[in-house]
Amino acid sequence: MLEIIQQPIAAELERYTALFRQHLHSDNPLLAAALAHLTRKLGKMMRPTLVLLCAREGGEINDAVMHAAAGLEMLHTASLVHDDVVDESDMRRGQRSVNALFDNKAAVLMGDFITSTALKAIALTHSLEAVERIAWLGQTLADGELLQLNNTQLTTFSEDAYYEVISKKTAALFATCARLGARLGGADEATTERLERFGHLTGLCFQMRDDLFDLDETLNVGKPKGNDLTEGKLTLPVLHVLDGADAYIRRLALKVRTHEASKLEMQELVDYTLTHGGVPYAEGEMLRIRHEAVALLADLRDRDVAEALTRYIDYVVNRKV
Ligand code: IPE
Ligand code: IPE
Ligand code: MG
Ligand code: MG
Repeated sequence: MLEIIQQPIAAELERYTALFRQHLHSDNPLLAAALAHLTRKLGKMMRPTLVLLCAREGGEINDAVMHAAAGLEMLHTASLVHDDVVDESDMRRGQRSVNALFDNKAAVLMGDFITSTALKAIALTHSLEAVERIAWLGQTLADGELLQLNNTQLTTFSEDAYYEVISKKTAALFATCARLGARLGGADEATTERLERFGHLTGLCFQMRDDLFDLDETLNVGKPKGNDLTEGKLTLPVLHVLDGADAYIRRLALKVRTHEASKLEMQELVDYTLTHGGVPYAEGEMLRIRHEAVALLADLRDRDVAEALTRYIDYVVNRKV
């Protein structure tokens, strides 16, 4: 399915991959080993795919677009390296995470190296807007991850607080990919803004689906399951069922948040979520957001791009990996 979406930009994605690998090298043997490990599995390349598709609507996949695609995927990669430290997670893309293979100290520094390499790639766009955006993005991603950490202290259950976290930690990056792709590809202001909003909504759906993976024991997504509750993170399906839950279940959820719950108690909260409609609720919300996003594509100049972006968000909503 992803291949069909990426097929119209297959040649550009190949050039992009070469550029991405070229950037990430080092003479330091430890760093070189970590970079080789990281670039062995490139992931789904969702973000560069979005940059390139939106650039096509602008009309031109030029060098600036390629550098933006590489820089944004590097920022994503760095954020995963740091996220696995924060989440104490030992698997990523079906292989050991950088923190598991080396240690937390090395992973923090390697993430810093990759972030700085992202800035270098973005400088090559020669676009002040792109530089401003990536700086804002670095701040916003960190803000989102910190907010999420802090939310484990809350004693209320708020879906708004959830949406604020995922807007910052995930949707901001998708929005920027769409915006910079469109802008650097030559799209007008109105189209650029519409695609940015499309990216934002797609990013929300992306994180909502990711959070559903965490509750689903049957899928193999190349990273650990149940990590969200272990880290005290209550995601949308859980927050939704807590709304109508009795005092016992709500107390249990607070225990999970503060890391005082046993494995058995965490499973009890998962079971409660699964039997009280948490999953269909989150899936329904995703479909509502998908609908709003697809409506933004109606006026695009290039119908092939509109179709590819519709397939893109449908993949995001329905994916199994
Ligand atoms: C994982 O992103 C981080 C989230 C925002 C959930 P991806 O699922 O796009 O990761 P890769 O790059 O394909 O491994
Ligand atoms: C997304 O959050 C990570 C970032 C946006 C950096 P998660 O913690 O849910 O991502 P995974 O599940 O580890 O990929
Ligand atoms: Mg994580
Ligand atoms: Mg997750």
